[in-house]
Amino acid sequence: MTTQEHLNAIAAPLLAWYDENRRDLPWRGTGDPYKVWVSEIMLQQTRVAAVLPYYRRWMEALPDVAALAAVEEGRLFKLWEGLGYYSRARNLQKAARMIVQELGGRFPSTYAELLRLPGVGEYTAGAVASIAFGEAVPAADGNVLRVAARVAAVEEDVLDPGVRRQFRQWMLEAVPPDRPGDFNQALMDLGATVCLPNGAPLCGGCPLSSLCAGRAAGRAAQLPVKRKKAARRLEELTVFLPLSQGRTALRKRPDTGLLAGLWEFPHVPGRLDEAAAAAALGEWGLVPIQWRQRLDGRHVFTHVEWRMTGYLVDVRGEGAGLTWADGPALSALAVPSAFSRFLAAVKAAIAAGADRGEDAEPSSPAGS
Ligand code: ADE
Repeated sequence: MTTQEHLNAIAAPLLAWYDENRRDLPWRGTGDPYKVWVSEIMLQQTRVAAVLPYYRRWMEALPDVAALAAVEEGRLFKLWEGLGYYSRARNLQKAARMIVQELGGRFPSTYAELLRLPGVGEYTAGAVASIAFGEAVPAADGNVLRVAARVAAVEEDVLDPGVRRQFRQWMLEAVPPDRPGDFNQALMDLGATVCLPNGAPLCGGCPLSSLCAGRAAGRAAQLPVKRKKAARRLEELTVFLPLSQGRTALRKRPDTGLLAGLWEFPHVPGRLDEAAAAAALGEWGLVPIQWRQRLDGRHVFTHVEWRMTGYLVDVRGEGAGLTWADGPALSALAVPSAFSRFLAAVKAAIAAGADRGEDAEPSSPAGS
């Protein structure tokens, strides 16, 4: 059998399996392209179980494209906080505004039109077009590529763009025109619950096992082939967690680049000891009064890893260019999860100070 013949053969047993085993997910069966689109963007880097509470909260706050187009950025980021990769939230809003302002509120209904929305690539366009509009196009994410590579015993590198194009072509022909959305979602469910990654496929419960060439060749667990990725760049940072009169000081990140527009604790490159850290604080006009705690933090992004040293420190001074926030103000800001350990320590310190009756709401800036 050719690769194409293998892949053409999966639709019937796969759909029969899906009819019995489909996961009950809130965006399924709605036929609402907005819901399908938002769910697909959330699911891009995050597992279904983790997405569910975010999805529910989002749909309560922003039930349609118009609401998303109109929401204020801080609220938008707050709804996204914890999902990471905030450019996804930003692009959702950009696309919603495009739909409202340029398309008269009509949701794009074909694969080609969907591709023009910010943040929508081949995978998402395929998912929304097939699930919400019944267009017979594939939605080949990592799960789907894994299933396909195993079923057809494809030994080529699935991270190679040329190989991906070839897979897309194969899948385009394999999608059954009567149930494209179910077919794509069945592949996703199979990839998430049966044809598991990291060498752990549960072939005993797989509806495709009898036609799986990878399994027949004893290769299912080793497929798909992925070449090694370039190593992540390591960055060391010293992060300041200043405390003064029940408040802490943050700054807003630039509007472009990593974590664009989010709030963060001030930091400088390198791993500084207290003496060097005191000098660095001076750049913001802050003077350390008491070093309370030193905390380590680590966060892995796609291309960078941050190794952080955090200083929880009582300070006085203006904090030039920084914004002071008390407990409630801090809770209203979208702070990326890279800082969550530090954020928790600061919140605890502010709350403990309030318990001790320290002045949590000074009428003038700290130290002035
Ligand atoms: N992962 C990404 N999109 C999905 C969907 N529609 N159903 C299940 N898992 C998914």
